[in-house]
Amino acid sequence: MLNRRALFSGSVATAMAASSLSKATGKEVPLDFDPRGTIGVFERLPSLQVESELEFITGYRSWMATSLYRQASKRSLDLLRLNGIDLSKDGDLDEIVGILTEDHTISMVVHNLERSQEQFWKLVKDECDRNADVLLEEMADAENRKPGRLLLNKDLDVPDYACYEIHIQPGGYVGDRFAGHIYFYGTSVVLAGGNQQDQLQVNWARGVPRPADGKVKRILDQGTSCGQFAHALKGRFPEAEVWGNDVAGPMLRFAHMNSLKLGKDINYVHELSEKTQFPDDYFDIVTSNLLIHEVPGEKIKEISAEAYRTLRPGGVYYPLDSYSGDQVRGTAMSHYNAWRNYRWNHEVWWMEYYHYDLAQAMREVGFKVDENGPKGRSDTTRNVIGYKV
Ligand SMILES: C[S@@+](CC[C@H](N)C(=O)[O-])C[C@H]1O[C@@H](n2cnc3c(N)ncnc32)[C@H](O)[C@@H]1O
Repeated sequence: MLNRRALFSGSVATAMAASSLSKATGKEVPLDFDPRGTIGVFERLPSLQVESELEFITGYRSWMATSLYRQASKRSLDLLRLNGIDLSKDGDLDEIVGILTEDHTISMVVHNLERSQEQFWKLVKDECDRNADVLLEEMADAENRKPGRLLLNKDLDVPDYACYEIHIQPGGYVGDRFAGHIYFYGTSVVLAGGNQQDQLQVNWARGVPRPADGKVKRILDQGTSCGQFAHALKGRFPEAEVWGNDVAGPMLRFAHMNSLKLGKDINYVHELSEKTQFPDDYFDIVTSNLLIHEVPGEKIKEISAEAYRTLRPGGVYYPLDSYSGDQVRGTAMSHYNAWRNYRWNHEVWWMEYYHYDLAQAMREVGFKVDENGPKGRSDTTRNVIGYKV
């Protein structure tokens, strides 16, 4: 398999890459870009041009998200005060949205975040399409290689709720052959370029508790996408067999290829987290990271129930996500931002999740719940942990 990670630019590297691909596929493979090495665990994109454009957008969004967002937040408070809204209470969302949408500063912040997001998705997508032959060959070549297995299911009945272009990613998770590449490089921009060692996932994986008896033989990461959290789990529990599942084939194809390149032994299976192929009492730990805000409420409960079924007694369920239900400590701007995410960022299930009582749903499917787990994604939230007793 071509390992662009091991190569750096220049004619020698290009020739080596082309030759290794040709060997792997038995065909003459012309290479139309110079492999350019890595930044952290990220293999660099084929062209410097696109990489610089992405970095420009990263910087622009960081400035927006700090300086301008702060001004917009202050402005939102002033506006609500002027309109006689009592900020010690949550306030009526429709009323808040109505008032804030009319303000130019606030609208500009919101729309610039969305437009720049459209831009970076498109930049990555176009770059992948331009280099389609090479990138498709890479994924195809990786498909049957070990360590780790990739179990794709071309007959999987993908539910409609999983087909939206969530966070305006073109094609969504299931509708573009390069969805994994697009998500992987695109979310790096969202994370302000600060995740080049997958350090966020590594940090979040530190919070996953061991079962009381200390035994961790098998782990499932639901909705694993590009496998970044699965990698972090393998790092934290090297003795465990780690599985990642996802409804989207393109995400898993990228994930498996990337795991191979990083030498990580992870198994991927193409299935729904609410209906898995695994037997009862199979896993010691089941996790998810950022899956449950992207499915309808009734599916969150089904996904939790499936985690409960497949966990062994004593097993731990660790669904990590943004705050919801009682954990929401709303300011006017945070409510507005939640609505913005739903309305303009195409986070179709966000408002439903925002009001969702995750702990209660987990109790209803059988878990003993600790609502006071390790610190969550913001200073005011804690992760909810389920124990199968
Ligand atoms: C925001 S991404 C998850 C990010 C990833 N866990 C990480 O740590 O980087 C959500 C993922 O959930 C997947 N997904 C959505 N509904 C699903 C379901 N019912 N079963 C399995 N995967 C699902 C999507 O295809 C997508 O890859």
